[in-house]
Amino acid sequence: MSPKDALIKVLHVAVEMAPLAKQGGLGDVLGALPKFLRKRSVDARVLLPAFPGVMEYVESHGCKCEELPERVHIALNWRVYSASVSLAEVEGVPVYLLKQPELFSNPKIYPQSLSPASVMPFAFLSMAAIEIQSFAGWKPDIFHVHDWSTSMLPMTLRWHRHYRALRSEYDVVFTIHNLAHQGIVDPAMLSSWGMTKDAFSIDGVEFYGQANLLKGGIVSSDAITTVSPHYSWDIQTPEGGFGLHGVFSTMKGKLTGILNGIDYDIWSPKADPYIPARYGVGDMSGKAECRKKLVQHCHWEDDGKPIVAFVGRLVQQKGIDILFTMLDWLMVDNCRAVVIGSGLLQYEDWARQFSRTYPDYFWCCTDFDEELAHLAYAGSDITAMPSLFEPCGLSQLIGMSYGSIPVVRCTGGLADTVIDCDGAPDGTGFVFSDYSTDELLKAMYRAIDAYHDKERWGSIVRNAMSSDFSWDSSTSSYIDLYRGLKNGDLPS
Ligand code: GLC
Repeated sequence: MSPKDALIKVLHVAVEMAPLAKQGGLGDVLGALPKFLRKRSVDARVLLPAFPGVMEYVESHGCKCEELPERVHIALNWRVYSASVSLAEVEGVPVYLLKQPELFSNPKIYPQSLSPASVMPFAFLSMAAIEIQSFAGWKPDIFHVHDWSTSMLPMTLRWHRHYRALRSEYDVVFTIHNLAHQGIVDPAMLSSWGMTKDAFSIDGVEFYGQANLLKGGIVSSDAITTVSPHYSWDIQTPEGGFGLHGVFSTMKGKLTGILNGIDYDIWSPKADPYIPARYGVGDMSGKAECRKKLVQHCHWEDDGKPIVAFVGRLVQQKGIDILFTMLDWLMVDNCRAVVIGSGLLQYEDWARQFSRTYPDYFWCCTDFDEELAHLAYAGSDITAMPSLFEPCGLSQLIGMSYGSIPVVRCTGGLADTVIDCDGAPDGTGFVFSDYSTDELLKAMYRAIDAYHDKERWGSIVRNAMSSDFSWDSSTSSYIDLYRGLKNGDLPS
């Protein structure tokens, strides 16, 4: 595609983009969506801070990369901060990398604790995005921002003394990947960042006397999306709204849910370079090989019990409390389990304790290990995802692709993607509603019963593996949204 022919120009502004910088699912989305948009003639580009490791990745992977002649200068806190910018091509996507080592020195991306000083690098990123024409010689029609860390962009276009003059030149799309994180800080810095007084009002960033950056971002954007349709309803309820349900219920016209896809170039057992044998619906023999390798890796004896996998962060959101309690009751007689992921120390300790108590039934790796994650999906039978809330979720989609049948709670993206096998002939998993160990246990028993009925299990596995969650349909929905904004069809 030549950018000249492109109909719509979109700059994604984000702090994560796989494989350059990643802490969670947001990074995966940024690694995929711009790439798929470009295949559909959208001139999608990304602006990303050059956190430690990013330039090294670009250099060591032979990506095309040039230093731009112009620097970017931003006034913040009575000082001018400057950055140089490199333009790299990552899997066909132009990525502007902001090099400002003083501000972008944190290899973990997000600060340990939020304060006006610790969130300032994110304010710099947002303002640098608005300056893009000056250093890149390219001007987007639409800024697409992701989560609270880039919410200062729409805030700046609305309330910044200088930049607000540019508001009418751009449309802003705000995607919520996880409402649990809102960027709540002391409001004192707003004026030293150049914001006018009215930013701190009930219709602006004010939130119980604090500044809520996510709230400031959504009230100043033209369109808001969540990463699944169901999650757009969840956030309008007191349980799922994290204090903002009232705000969302007043902006229904602006809010839509667009389901994330998965990148089948990375997550398909037909072509996965990490697994010992490849397989697909037509020939499942490779899955048995993968199981063998997984069982060996865990130092188990295989007596044919189903293997349950959990791959993800060990945090409350993921339902670890009910998952581990359930496993404690269920393992030994009914199944084995593999857990891969890091997170809260108390959960990591719990997992390590399990591997000591049940060495023949439970195996864990409390560091994230990409290669092992692939083997766990390929070698397991069931993927557990009993999340308390889940904006979209990737693990259930990967599980389905590898024929590891998801057992999920009916929330957010899990509700949109998994069809319960006892409720429909084309079922792809097992779904439960109430967040409790009992309910999870019942769903797990249903899955294990089905597992022992080989014929039924075979058809569930086929249904799951034939489901299509590729980025194609999500990309179309984003393009429709961008077009609507450009044509002025959507309320703002
Ligand atoms: C967050 C959410 C997850 C979602 C991901 C990508 O990590 O917790 O549910 O899939 O963002 O949008």
